[in-house]
Amino acid sequence: MWTFLCRSEVLTLHILVTCSIAGILLLSGACRAEYADVVLNKRADSEGVRPVIFSHWFHRIRYQCRVCHNELGFEMKAGANDVSMQEITDGKFCGACHDGKIAWSVENCDLCHSAQPGTAAGVRGGHQTLGPGNW
Ligand code: HEC
Ligand code: HEC
Ligand code: HEC
Repeated sequence: MWTFLCRSEVLTLHILVTCSIAGILLLSGACRAEYADVVLNKRADSEGVRPVIFSHWFHRIRYQCRVCHNELGFEMKAGANDVSMQEITDGKFCGACHDGKIAWSVENCDLCHSAQPGTAAGVRGGHQTLGPGNW
């Protein structure tokens, strides 16, 4: 089970056990990325399109981790994936689902490319997930 905990959760649990302070897990926000959005911007800004907001929680409640992090090959680290639009259009990564059948198609550029220009890659929003257009 420990492999599924992120580092801050392990740390928090450690503190929890040592200090026996109930509630610290909640107060500290545990793994802050849990509900957050992830901005992808390895290529977008430099290629003249808005960075991509990926609403992680929205997807996590619908699919198991392994769908994306094993089968589709997304690395489990913010900013680690180098995904090109060509690969997505070819049905890889986001394109495995955003094909107009499982989910709306790649034609809807603005729904993915919805971050303010210049928004750096990484986790956004702490405990919130806001989705398109909010960062
Ligand atoms: C399902 C989500 C999604 C949709 C829809 C989408 N994109 Fe992307 N696109 C991405 C992701 C993810 C990247 C990689 C972002 C990064 O790391 O910079 C990307 C990258 C790009 C890039 C950067 C250069 C390259 O070729 O990789 C361009 C340009 C681009 N998209 C244009 C478009 C256009 C135009 C549309 C609409 C016809 C579109 N995208 C629709 C997710 C999407
Ligand atoms: C629909 C696809 C999808 C699903 C399902 C999914 N992830 Fe992710 N995950 C991603 C993408 C895309 C990123 C961003 C990678 C990047 O920035 O390059 C990401 C990033 C992450 C990160 C690093 C960012 C952060 O928030 O700390 C972790 C950790 C992570 N995922 C864990 C999980 C776990 C655990 C599950 C299952 C409960 C899960 N993911 C389900 C696609 C998914
Ligand atoms: C395993 C399938 C799957 C993958 C992979 C996937 N999506 Fe989605 N996504 C969905 C489904 C299903 C929906 C809901 C579609 C609907 O409501 O019609 C959705 C909805 C969305 C939304 C709107 C959610 C909101 O918060 O309102 C965005 C934005 C989005 N996806 C971006 C992405 C990006 C960017 C990637 C790649 C980094 C990606 N998705 C990969 C299945 C997927």
